[in-house]
Amino acid sequence: MQVGVSLTHIHSLMAEIVGDAYVFADESILRQHGSDETEDYCFPPDLVVKPGTTEEVSRIMRLCDQHGIVVTPRGAGTGLSGGALPTQGGIVLAMERFNKIINIDTLNLQAIVEPGVITEVFQDAVKALDLFYPPDPSSKGSCFIGGNLAENAGGPKAVKYGVTRDYVLNLEMVLPNGEVIWTGANVLKNSTGYNLTQLMIGSEGTLGIITKVVFKLRAYPQKDVTMLVPFRSSEEACRAIAAIFIAGISPSGMEFMERSAIEKTKKYLEDKLNYKVNIEVPDGIEAHLLIELDGNDDNQLMSEAEKVYEVLEGFETGEILLAQTSQQKEQLWKLRRNVSPAVNAYSLTKSEDVVVPRANLPDLVKGIKEIGSKFGFNSVCYGHLGDGNLHINIMKEQMSDEQWDNGVNEGIEQIFKLVVSLGGTLSGEHGIGIAKRPYMHLANAPAKIDLMRGIKQVFDPKGILNPGKIF
Ligand code: LAC
Ligand code: ZN
Repeated sequence: MQVGVSLTHIHSLMAEIVGDAYVFADESILRQHGSDETEDYCFPPDLVVKPGTTEEVSRIMRLCDQHGIVVTPRGAGTGLSGGALPTQGGIVLAMERFNKIINIDTLNLQAIVEPGVITEVFQDAVKALDLFYPPDPSSKGSCFIGGNLAENAGGPKAVKYGVTRDYVLNLEMVLPNGEVIWTGANVLKNSTGYNLTQLMIGSEGTLGIITKVVFKLRAYPQKDVTMLVPFRSSEEACRAIAAIFIAGISPSGMEFMERSAIEKTKKYLEDKLNYKVNIEVPDGIEAHLLIELDGNDDNQLMSEAEKVYEVLEGFETGEILLAQTSQQKEQLWKLRRNVSPAVNAYSLTKSEDVVVPRANLPDLVKGIKEIGSKFGFNSVCYGHLGDGNLHINIMKEQMSDEQWDNGVNEGIEQIFKLVVSLGGTLSGEHGIGIAKRPYMHLANAPAKIDLMRGIKQVFDPKGILNPGKIF
């Protein structure tokens, strides 16, 4: 920690604010807070502090502002771009004690929650009241709402219902100098100056620390239809996606899984979690689409499903599996949600999160494989292709460290260049953090990055909050 006061002194100042039990300097805890789910990165901080109230966060920031101490806010550590890693040391502000659902307003369809609430816990709490909070990242069982806001998380439902930012009405946040503000108002429309609420979302903890969130909610859709569609080629699957939307269908899930994604995940679920998936991938099948439709009316759902079948008749598919029971649906979604942990269980990976306009997906999937062959890496592709958002896990497998650290990055740069040439951008939902930072210039003009730097400067003139991220 490069400041004028000793670490021991800062430790005791922090303990005065949050209590001795919530300041940590043990090696194992520091290491644990120095990594997330991004590759094998590890940047242990000098201290981990776990505040419990907004007032405590405010006092911590005032102190850090005064002494020039770097602070990195952290949620559950499920990030895939290294946004919460304290690359410059200092303090990790672990937000896990902010775990209360403060209020669910069933008349206005709104809720006030703290950022350390697990996303699925919040979803279940509103569902018990027949309400729906749609953003559902695959890590929903462990990730925190605060991390979802920091990276603007999405998930399978985004294709119909939008991403995290579409549900946020207002935020309580602590500025880097310790001041506490509300960014908006608890209303559905708001034309009152710059939209600071939306500016905060996706800002990766670089502008302020969120301490309360006001969400809007929806009524929970009562029924759904789920199908798994095999395709002989990934490009064909991608073409079918665009055709489904052009036909006026609005699926609540449109997920893509390459053959290897399904095979590795089946094996992972069976071997590691003792969970058997009763799905066989026939020979000659390269990719699957997992399609979900939802609504409240059986007849309407059936007629939408028929329309999907009609569109698919124009494509080379294998036999479509229409899930008959809730267990079968659960199995399909469990398979899809576990692709990322499964792929990472068998090899170190670099995980990309690119997004292109939907109709350009066939060129994207084809180009990625060509780049892989040229640079000598395998990739497992899957993701939210209804949104044009493809996850690419580049596998280290038997590759040498030298090739992994240097050679692969050139291939990744080629992928990003391809994405940009197809009208796309670097990240759809995982953020830039440190992992994509070297590539920001490929998708963003210097004047745009300068504006971002200017915004950072206004919020955080001393550069103490999560420095070294995004740009
Ligand atoms: C998923 C995560 C990796 O879609 O975003 O599974
Ligand atoms: Zn995803």
